[in-house]
Amino acid sequence: MIGPTIPAALWVYIGCRMEPAMMASGLLTSDGPDDTSALGRAIGRHATPGTVVALIGELGAGKTVLAKGVADGLGVRTVVNSPTFVLMNEHLGRLRLHHVDAYRLSDPADALAAGLLDDRLAMGVAVIEWADRLDGWLPEERLEIRLDTPAGLNPDVRTIAWRAIGEAHERLASAAFTDSRGEPA
Ligand SMILES: Nc1ncnc2c1ncn2[C@@H]1O[C@H](COP(=O)(O)OP(=O)(O)OP(=O)(O)O)[C@@H](O)[C@H]1O
Ligand SMILES: [Mg+2]
Repeated sequence: MIGPTIPAALWVYIGCRMEPAMMASGLLTSDGPDDTSALGRAIGRHATPGTVVALIGELGAGKTVLAKGVADGLGVRTVVNSPTFVLMNEHLGRLRLHHVDAYRLSDPADALAAGLLDDRLAMGVAVIEWADRLDGWLPEERLEIRLDTPAGLNPDVRTIAWRAIGEAHERLASAAFTDSRGEPA
């Protein structure tokens, strides 16, 4: 995080707005798991009912690290693990957290059948790992975050490309990404 003197980690923030689709996007750099957790915590602190965080990235990219941060920011005190075998775990914090892992979904229609993406999400916060496997089935309004490990750099570096669709998620992204840079290291 950027501290008062020397930055412990560098967050690059390049925001841009694309009209008229109510969409904003940007790129951050995380220098380690603590940075990614801090970003998740900031999202959790600013999340509102109906927040959908769609996480995309390869195995080990850091999706669960970020999801655990969101839970922490929501005040969840139960253990948050990847819900790979049950598709979704629920946790109670300031809002109800629905933590989905779509890795093993062979057909997105199964997610609907399993009641994963029903009206309950509107009352709480959904964090969805492997969200690209639910392509076309996710709520249109969401904060989409893609984590990548750039080749040739320190293996703890992640690029975090985000796209916020809809006014509420734009507001969330703006507040959270400003906030996470201000968190004490
Ligand atoms: N900058 C970083 N951000 C997040 N995790 C990092 C970072 N650098 C190293 N790591 C490490 O990478 C691993 C990320 O694991 P995590 O379970 O979050 O990945 P994942 O994307 O959820 O993978 P999977 O698809 O297998 O569930 C952890 O061991 C974490 O410590
Ligand atoms: Mg995971």
